Amino acid sequence: MKALVTVTHPRKNSLTYAVMNRFVEGLKQNNHEVDLLDLDRDGFNPVYTAEDEKDWINPAKSYSPEIRKEMHRIAAANALVFVFPLWWYSVPSMLKGYLDKVWNMGLLEEMASKKVLWICLAGGDRKHLSKYNREEMLTHYLNVAVAGYARVKESRVELLYDTLSESKEHIASLLERAYQLGREYE
Ligand SMILES: Cc1cc2nc3c(=O)[nH]c(=O)nc-3n(C[C@H](O)[C@H](O)[C@H](O)COP(=O)(O)O)c2cc1C
Repeated sequence: MKALVTVTHPRKNSLTYAVMNRFVEGLKQNNHEVDLLDLDRDGFNPVYTAEDEKDWINPAKSYSPEIRKEMHRIAAANALVFVFPLWWYSVPSMLKGYLDKVWNMGLLEEMASKKVLWICLAGGDRKHLSKYNREEMLTHYLNVAVAGYARVKESRVELLYDTLSESKEHIASLLERAYQLGREYE
């Protein structure tokens, strides 16, 4: 299987980045092929311009070379994995810009055959996330609203809780979980 792993975080020494690295190590152990897109360091421009607008009359509209390149990377992958911190119960703006620009018309026919996995790092603990149905809201948003709108049939969210914990054991357990997710990914 070929996985396109997309990560976003302003810092390479972040927990998010370390989680992505451990997940990729697990994938490789499992003999999966990995294509890594590091939105912040690969210079992805998340600002949506008129050039990126969908053309409802002309679905064959050709997008910018940068966006076409990203669409081809999706087309070449079986699985799309996103690793990101939870910001305001949503994805960071970098990832939102990627989805706005790349998950566009012309690609959507492809999406039904892709598997999507959202690995989301949350500062809140399990109790905080379950209060007021926050976790349900988030998983419903990512699986049903976003992936479903893109016609993806198989979408899953893995939440890593309590990421701001000072417990070294807890952080180590999150990294181990990320590795196992990669190892077990099918
Ligand atoms: C702008 C911003 C918004 C955040 N919003 C939330 C939130 O809505 N829910 C939550 O549980 N944590 C929230 N957090 C905490 C992050 O999820 C946490 O900092 C991150 O998971 C830690 O991983 P990192 O060290 O890789 O950044 C927020 C953090 C920032 C900077």
